[in-house]
Amino acid sequence: MADRGYSRRQFLGYAGAGALSTFSGLSFAQNGTVVRAASPSFEPDIEIELTARSTRVPIHDGPKTLVWKFHANLLKGPSGCVEHIPDSYLGPIFHFKTGQKIRIHFNNQIPQHCIVHWHGLHVPQVMDGHPMYAIESGNSYVYEFEIVNRAGMYWYHSHTHELTAKQVYSGLAGLIIVNDEDEAKRGLPSGAKDLPIVIQDRSFTAENKLSYTSHMREHMMGFLGEEILVNGKPDFQLPVSQGVYRLRFLNGSNSRIYKLGWGDGSPFTVIGTDGGLLEKPVSRRYITLASAERVEILVDFRDKKVGSTQTLKSLPFQGMRHMSSGNTLPEGSEFSVMTVKVTEESKALDPAQLPETLSKIDRLGLSDVANPETPLSIALRMRRMNWWLNGEDFEMLAATPSERVELNSHQLIQFDNGFQTRGGMRLPHPMHMHGQQFQIVKREIRRGYQGAYNSLSEGFVDNGWKDTVLVMPGERVTMIKPFEDFKGLFLYHCHNLEHEDMGMMRNFNVV
Ligand code: C2O
Ligand code: CU
Ligand code: CU
Repeated sequence: MADRGYSRRQFLGYAGAGALSTFSGLSFAQNGTVVRAASPSFEPDIEIELTARSTRVPIHDGPKTLVWKFHANLLKGPSGCVEHIPDSYLGPIFHFKTGQKIRIHFNNQIPQHCIVHWHGLHVPQVMDGHPMYAIESGNSYVYEFEIVNRAGMYWYHSHTHELTAKQVYSGLAGLIIVNDEDEAKRGLPSGAKDLPIVIQDRSFTAENKLSYTSHMREHMMGFLGEEILVNGKPDFQLPVSQGVYRLRFLNGSNSRIYKLGWGDGSPFTVIGTDGGLLEKPVSRRYITLASAERVEILVDFRDKKVGSTQTLKSLPFQGMRHMSSGNTLPEGSEFSVMTVKVTEESKALDPAQLPETLSKIDRLGLSDVANPETPLSIALRMRRMNWWLNGEDFEMLAATPSERVELNSHQLIQFDNGFQTRGGMRLPHPMHMHGQQFQIVKREIRRGYQGAYNSLSEGFVDNGWKDTVLVMPGERVTMIKPFEDFKGLFLYHCHNLEHEDMGMMRNFNVV
């Protein structure tokens, strides 16, 4: 695919001279793309150099696999805040605290233009990795922002328009774990008992090369890989001791939905979602996790025998994507995600770490929103063989009048996936909004669509802060989202990355 950076001329054309003042700190490299330098008045607590480049990592036996990977170098800050994942294509895990000021020097060393987005973090427009800021190979972009989010697991990935799916698939993603004082007081498992689990699907050639489809149909449906990787590894085994663990899951797949369940049928104790801890733990027989969603659980291995194993599976559900080619791991099929093995007796007595109250969440209601009678309604539909939002294709700097949102307001928003209108092709769409996290108010399902819905809906965890929500075929989801602190363009899009690249993405213009 051709490399298409946004030239100075295009950028000015998009932005218009008047809008330029909002893009402060930007300049243009010799070859014309946007770059951003450090600002002397910003005093970072943590400073990191982050480079995207190609490298080879061992995934399967035999030849190493060529990937694109984020490498990080800690320039300033506590040594633990950059945690490398050995032999993985995943970038390092960043450990930040609420209130810290972060400066990241991003160097693009892959042979395409690229930009990095901090998924779930609430940052100003110029720090958000909007594709308008994509830089060409060889250029740099300096991010400077304060962590205002509450404790939770967020992530970062490339966000280059029309290339996001390919770049993330090739490896360009990593985790951000934010801690805060309130969470630290809760006495949850920490250190070696607090483990992130990134679930992704990939396909490989016989020579261990990553293979990614170029077929139109796979793009329309969303790509499904034929092998499951956890933290970048196939057949992942997690060694644990006889204790209580906090496991944090991210679905980092381009399109695949997981219906997570333990092989022995035991339920999950869910403690958190995209935006951190719930108010109280909830129990689920299974968890539905769509692309970009996170969920956190507590698992108790204290009664398990040393040597025993437990399988984490994706349980069967009614698939909605029917691929033309014979995918060996079709949507909705049952497969193993990873195995947990109890390898160690617990030396110290591990108290039952299950606090009754996990955090405080202020419930937003209709009295908090600016538009209780007129929800901002977004139709998820196919048009001209493309997935679009309200019939509009993605335009880099455009927002319609209905996408204009007043600063410091709360908006009632509805994603409508064929709840009101009949017909047409219907697929599940995990809808993501940049900026602040939102709260889900209700889900409605159109008659005739209950089959697939009922096979997944018990696994939704809707009572926390969310930045991504799975909208099923025939469903309408209503939510309340705050738009505070920053004016500017903030994306919302389908996080099925093939759909995002096709233009199933738009801007909110916060004014
Ligand atoms: Cu995780 Cu706009 O993306
Ligand atoms: Cu995001
Ligand atoms: Cu979609």
